[in-house]
Amino acid sequence: MSRLHDLASEILQENDRGRFTVPSGHLYPHQWAWDSGFAAIGWAHLDLQRASLELETLLGGQWDDGRIPHIQFHEDTKEYAPGPDVWGGGRSSTISNPPVWTLAAERLSELGVDESRVKGWLPALERSHKFLSEHRDPLGWNCIATCHPWENGQDNCPAWDQPLEAVDPEEAPPFERVDKDRVEDAAQRPTDTQYKRYITLVYRFRNNGFKIANFAVYDPFFTTVTILAEVALARLGERLGVETEASQRAAKLRKGLADRLWSADLGRYRYYDAIGERYLDTLTIGSVSPMLLGADFQGASALKTTLKECFQTPFGLPSVSPQSPDFDPVCYWRGPTWVNINWFFSRFLGAEFRDKTLKLVERNGFWEYFHPVTGKGLGADRFTWTAALVLDLLDLQKGVKA
Ligand code: DGY
Repeated sequence: MSRLHDLASEILQENDRGRFTVPSGHLYPHQWAWDSGFAAIGWAHLDLQRASLELETLLGGQWDDGRIPHIQFHEDTKEYAPGPDVWGGGRSSTISNPPVWTLAAERLSELGVDESRVKGWLPALERSHKFLSEHRDPLGWNCIATCHPWENGQDNCPAWDQPLEAVDPEEAPPFERVDKDRVEDAAQRPTDTQYKRYITLVYRFRNNGFKIANFAVYDPFFTTVTILAEVALARLGERLGVETEASQRAAKLRKGLADRLWSADLGRYRYYDAIGERYLDTLTIGSVSPMLLGADFQGASALKTTLKECFQTPFGLPSVSPQSPDFDPVCYWRGPTWVNINWFFSRFLGAEFRDKTLKLVERNGFWEYFHPVTGKGLGADRFTWTAALVLDLLDLQKGVKA
């Protein structure tokens, strides 16, 4: 096995807490939902039993209404804020995440988890998708809206800037950040004002019975990942003889995304602020992500051109185009390259792109994100999903070379 493989395995083991994996012992000491989906994929290359347990712990935290919360607080610690006292949802946060858990279920099944075990997961997956379609579509557009910047996982994506202006940063009780001094430079994290707004939204959400409050942004990335998950669930259901409504929901979402968010003029997808009633034209990786839905999807060839012309950097894909005025190469989701985004696109951009991602990690380490021009590692080091997805990309590389 390669050194990269050995290092990645070592990181998963280091971040293993028995039933779940923390994204980083240093910065994120709980179980995050989409991180955990990626972690399960990584574990599947080392230990199928452990991979299955990861997913089962995650699904075990599902709410009665079907939502998979984006954080489960299994242990008490002051090393992360906001904790359960702020969220007010028991042992979990109260928003969800892109349903990477279903992509993980399918990958685990491909890699050899017993069919009867996978079959047992399907009802929970179905309920988690139903939740998104029913509770994250406030205008009935058949697209998915993110109801908090933390819900789609791209916390300070520039698409949220305008909608967040309507959120009062001083409304929430005082809150102390613990994240900023855990990275080399606080400029790699969201600003204090952004954080105050995130916390105001948490309280608004709590006071509204955990239903959409004053932030709802239709999101091409969240919608695309949900469609990919619906298609995966439909395939699993068909193969394992479990009835689901996944293909019907996928068809509706495909149509909604194409009809509502595609812009032929821009050659990319837009976001839509359902509260402020306006389209948002930011040039983020999310705005080209519907190309993951295949060459016959609305705008696919224009998206390829936009990707080529606006997202070219030496180490994979920047989270925001360097041509955008919002681009910041070190600040979290405003420009850096992320291995999970590269992983999504690697299926479409071929072996050379996949190898570029592996080289990025080999040369710079298993960081949370990377400067898209220099490759320098940023955020948290020894990051779980970077390690997990390196294991998956190595396996795909082996498969192609064999
Ligand atoms: C964080 O704490 O930075 C997370 O992204 C919130 O989920």
